[in-house]
Amino acid sequence: MKGNVELINLTKHYGNSPAVSALNLTIEAGQYCCLLGPSGCGKSTTLRMIAGHESVTSGTVRLSGNEVTQLSPRQRGTAMMFQNYALFPHMTCMENVAYGLKVAGVSKTERTQAAKDMLALVDMLEHQHKLPAHLSGGQQQRIALARALICKPDVILLDEPLSALDPFLRIQMRKELKRIQRQLGLTFIHVTHSQEEAFALADIAVVMKDGVIEQSGNPKSIFEKPASAFVADFIGGHNVINANDTHPDFPPSFSVRADHIHITAPTHTPSAETISMPAEIVDVEFQAQFYFVEADIGNGQRCMCFIPEHKLDPLLVSSGQRVDLNWHKNQMNTFTITH
Ligand SMILES: Nc1ncnc2c1ncn2[C@@H]1O[C@H](COP(=O)(O)OP(=O)(O)OP(=O)(O)O)[C@@H](O)[C@H]1O
Ligand SMILES: [Mg+2]
Repeated sequence: MKGNVELINLTKHYGNSPAVSALNLTIEAGQYCCLLGPSGCGKSTTLRMIAGHESVTSGTVRLSGNEVTQLSPRQRGTAMMFQNYALFPHMTCMENVAYGLKVAGVSKTERTQAAKDMLALVDMLEHQHKLPAHLSGGQQQRIALARALICKPDVILLDEPLSALDPFLRIQMRKELKRIQRQLGLTFIHVTHSQEEAFALADIAVVMKDGVIEQSGNPKSIFEKPASAFVADFIGGHNVINANDTHPDFPPSFSVRADHIHITAPTHTPSAETISMPAEIVDVEFQAQFYFVEADIGNGQRCMCFIPEHKLDPLLVSSGQRVDLNWHKNQMNTFTITH
């Protein structure tokens, strides 16, 4: 189907070092996919191989059902938006946006109309005669997006599109991206370091580590069941607990969400459904909507708990107090990937 993306055993080596190893991923047409992971895990390399800006060492890229592995970027039906936007500094917004159609030999009347439509879509029509140097970061980003969209690609590839923006603008532009993606029904593949950004945008989030996919799926399923200690740590909000030496009656390694823990006095009798772990409160921080409580569970391991104000007993939860950390046994997540 038009806009569908399949990566089959996609591999890239630079010399002897693997940057991407046997990646398998299917993105349905019209989905918003975020590639997520720490610096150097192979996100940009994967994106560039989909775009055709990077050759593959082995494996296959299929777009809209056709193999495109050996095709040039222009032959693929993809458009890439680079991190620095790469706008032409001597061209106005209108000329920047219309550029792709000019190269393709489209008449001036036709491309001016198409560029106007794109400028309207990204809410930049009133700035059409300005040069890029006279635009804010967010405005430049809109122009770069309009320029990528004008050739009506089936798939849009975005490498860290929001990283140059300040936090407020980043959230605003993230909503814009989602709106435009929904409006046009295009497949978007968006690379980011930020789990917050990925979770806000993605129909499918792909967490990468060292050139392989550690976990992919909708953000809720990843947050509810991180497949490995790495994913749990990377997405945040989870405690990864190694119970090997300290707690022989627990699984050797598991995660529990910081907002699933409740704190009781050690004298409290837990229900049969509750898992309890003794701990000592190390620090309590006020964070507006909740308290951020840090507890020592032995062997130098720290456990983070998010406790809403109405559930916090200040006499019990203060530095140095011995307590029990409790969670429902169903909220204890064991990993399917152990390295
Ligand atoms: N042109 C290149 N030549 C040699 N090694 C490269 C090249 N491009 C990338 N690499 C290496 O491949 C690995 C993956 O790089 P890549 O740029 O895909 O990471 P990334 O996930 O996009 O990281 P970041 O979040 O920092 O942008 C890294 O170890 C990197 O050093
Ligand atoms: Mg990168």
